[in-house]
Amino acid sequence: MVVGAADANASARPAPQTTAVPASIAQFRRPPAPPRAPEAIYVRTCGYCHGAHVAPIIRGRGLPAEMVELYVRTGPRGMPAFRPTEISPAELKALAVWVSQSKADPNERAPLDPIPAATKERAQ
Ligand code: HEC
Repeated sequence: MVVGAADANASARPAPQTTAVPASIAQFRRPPAPPRAPEAIYVRTCGYCHGAHVAPIIRGRGLPAEMVELYVRTGPRGMPAFRPTEISPAELKALAVWVSQSKADPNERAPLDPIPAATKERAQ
């Protein structure tokens, strides 16, 4: 595919179809929710795994905000990805900065070692 050629045809493309929502349905639409505070998202969503014996501790490590954003959108390996409808772009920006600058919480717990200590002792 030639990218430049596709762009040259852009003006010839029909305008995207928009589906008008009848007023009878539109009245039930909720107004967009205000952005949630980063800490609230962290506690409710990230803290389900991070610092709760499941996923690595991410607070107090000065992780780059860009890295946090990348993990949240792509969800590598054992982590789920979060869509913009779940964590809005503005919320994610603020969350990533908050995680990056947050202090370590002494109550958080790293993932449990999957190999019980007794098994390790036997192996020695
Ligand atoms: C269902 C559990 C779960 C949830 C919820 C979750 N994560 Fe994760 N996350 C993981 C796992 C597991 C990893 C380790 C993936 C790997 O092997 O690199 C991870 C890795 C990360 C890393 C890289 C840490 C490192 O040391 O390499 C960041 C940053 C991160 N998550 C941010 C977040 C944020 C921010 C949220 C909340 C929006 C979140 N995660 C929600 C499971 C989760």
